[in-house]
Order: sequence, then C-alpha cells, then structure tokens
Amino acid sequence: MISLTSQLEAGKAVFDVIDLRSLSERDLRRAERLVAELRRRFGAKEEDVRIVKSPYRIAPLGAHVDHQLGRVTGMAIDRSTLLAFVPNPSGRVRLESLNFPGRVEFDLREVPPPQNGDWGNYARGAAVALKSHYRIEVGIDGVLEGNMPIGGLSSSASVGLAYLLALEHVNGLKVLAKDNIALDKDIENGYIGLNNGILDQSSILLARRENLMYLDCLTEDYQLHAVPEVMGEFEFVVVYSGVTKNLVGTGYNQRVAECQEAARRLLQMAGLPLPERPVLRHVPEDVFEQKLDELPEMLAKRARHFHTENRRVLEGIEAWRRGDLHTFGRLMSESGRSSIENYECGSPPLIALYEILVSTDGVFGARFSGAGFRGNCIGLIDPAFREAVRLRVLDEYPRRFPEYASQLSVTFCKMDDGLRLL
Ligand code: GLA
Repeated sequence: MISLTSQLEAGKAVFDVIDLRSLSERDLRRAERLVAELRRRFGAKEEDVRIVKSPYRIAPLGAHVDHQLGRVTGMAIDRSTLLAFVPNPSGRVRLESLNFPGRVEFDLREVPPPQNGDWGNYARGAAVALKSHYRIEVGIDGVLEGNMPIGGLSSSASVGLAYLLALEHVNGLKVLAKDNIALDKDIENGYIGLNNGILDQSSILLARRENLMYLDCLTEDYQLHAVPEVMGEFEFVVVYSGVTKNLVGTGYNQRVAECQEAARRLLQMAGLPLPERPVLRHVPEDVFEQKLDELPEMLAKRARHFHTENRRVLEGIEAWRRGDLHTFGRLMSESGRSSIENYECGSPPLIALYEILVSTDGVFGARFSGAGFRGNCIGLIDPAFREAVRLRVLDEYPRRFPEYASQLSVTFCKMDDGLRLL
C-alpha cells in the first residue's frame, strides 16, 4: 500500500511533466488548436503557453461509497480536458471554452460566489480553494476543451484539477497529490455545494496507464494494480444517454444524508459511540450482518449497498490480479444492479442502457458511471465485439428513448495516465 501521507513525507512531486510529443495524434491536434485559439483570443505568445491534460475517470467498482469512506477503484481514460494557458500577471483569470459559450473573467483578489449552472464555477472554486491555503497573485488566460459528454466521467474534477494545476504552476507552487485531492474536494464540497467524496480527483491524480487504482477512502492508502500478463484483451465502452443535469439538483446530497442516517442508527442500535459525523465505514462488519434488517427499509437498502459494494471491491481486486475479466465484469454488473435496487439512483434512460449492455454479447460487465443520475454508462468489453456492441446500443436505445436518440454516443476507451502538465 502506498499512503498519501507517506508521499507527503517523502516530498514526492505530484505532477509528471511530459513532452507534447508524447501525446496521441488526436490529442496533439486538439492541443495545437487550443494554442492557436489562445493566441487569437488573448494575444498569448506561443513560447509562454503550457498545457494541462486532465483525463476523465471511470470507476468500475466502488460506486457511491466514497462519501462514506468506503473502498473504491478508479482509472483514467484516454479522453480528457485540455487547458492551454499563459500567466496573467495582473491577477485576473480569463477563460474561454470550446464547449461552452462566453468568457469567464474574475480577479483573484475578489472571487465572486457561484452562479447557478455557470461553467466558470469550477475556476472560481479552484481560486477560492487555493487562496485559502496559499498566496496566489498571478492569474491565467486560458482556453480549454473537453472531448466527452458530461455526466459520470468526472468532468468536474477534471476541470477543477486543471485549473488548480495551472494556477499552482503560474504561482510557482508545488502542491502534493494529497493536498490537491483536498483542494479539489474544497471546490466541490465548499464552493459548489456537492457533498461528494474523493473518488474522482484521486482517480485523476493517481492513475497510471494499464493500472487499476484501489483507494481506501478512510485511511487514504492506495494501490496500483497493473494489468496482469495473463489478462485477455479488453477495453471500455462509454455510452452517453443524452441526460444531462446538474448534480447539485439531483438526489446526490440526499443519498449522502440517508447513508449517514443509516450509519447513525446502526451504531446506536449496537450501543457504539457516535462520532461527530457518522458514516457507514464506522459501522463494524458484524453490526451490518446482525442489525441491517432492523433498519427502516429505505435505510437498510442504502446500508446494504455500502456493505456489499465494499466486498465487491475487494473481490474485484483479486479477480483483476488473476486476470479474470469474467468475474471482474460480473462484479461490475452486480454493482450496477445494487445501484438501481439498493442505492436507487438510476434514471430510466440510464437503467435502460445498463440493461442493454449487460445483455449484449462481448460485454463482461457494465454499470452507470459516477453518480448515476445522468450521463454515461460504462461497459467492460472484449474488443472483438466492439462493432456488435455499438450496433446493439444504436439499435435498442433509440427505440426505448427516441427523445434522446440524437444525443446518444458510443465511445471506446483505453486506460491512461493521470493528470499531466505539458
Ligand atoms: C460522483 C461523485 C463521486 C462519487 C461518485 C459515485 O462522481 O463526484 O464522489 O460519489 O459519484 O461513486
């Protein structure tokens, strides 16, 4: 186990700086376009431009347990947010996006509060989070672009970390992974108001190509498990449902509160001391076994999801290490089923996508990605079935949800490295 705390003690630098030439052809073209736009829109000099590549993440196992300090898995995929930026010595932050209209502009000395649904919230949140711990005086001019549809792939943590890294870089700060995880959490919990855990930013920061990351959110110990040689060919399919909604307006925070209530009651029923902020990880294994059924039905379901999901993560890691894609995939599908039945978070279009994927040949397993209220479903697949999977989804989903047919997209992804400065 590598602990984030020991990383801190060892003074380990956080971000690998890599060369533009190591980008894929696709990302190189995206980067060149961003640099050209940064010059055109802000008059930036090419030699001053730096680029952050901040990947999206998927979490095959360990869903909805990070906010209860459970165990999670995560990996970065080869789709990302790219942010090209130059320092702005006046202390202003000026940003434009190739995905969203308008310019975001503010002064670091006076960062405005969040505005409902505004894409600039994550940049403002990053500035507020950094300012509360460090002295930052230099702003940035930047142009960014993401190449996946929003929902479940952690575009929020992806942009949040990109802004953090850019601001840290222009202010000469070297911030460690552990601290960047906490800073990004401040953006989400403090500035945006989403009571989520540390799965997203940890996956993006700690990921390594061809590795599955395991993180214990209680101890913050993590491990990277390389793809074993005996593992057969695999890749991930990411299917976008067309449903996009702001997570703060979904049932996300309500589910977090329900889990906490289940934790509080289980601890009380077992006569155990109540911590200030009880979470399900505080509940001992045997208390789940003995007391779960005494909870009101809804709270019992939330606790059941937590308890079984933590086990699936441990079993999944074992299966991964054996190279057993079938078992790993089955656990993913069971995790998806528990999200629907116990955590009760799928919207009908996402449930339909889940059902389509799990009943398609060549799919080892599937589940919603992320919070599960909107966005994308992921599947672990045998690449030999890629075309068949694509055709089945393109055929079935529009018949069930014609209103989302024009938005539907099917993308095949591979595992990739985490956050990088270029
Ligand atoms: C979202 C949240 C994460 C995590 C997942 C579900 O992505 O941001 O913290 O709770 O949902 O596992």
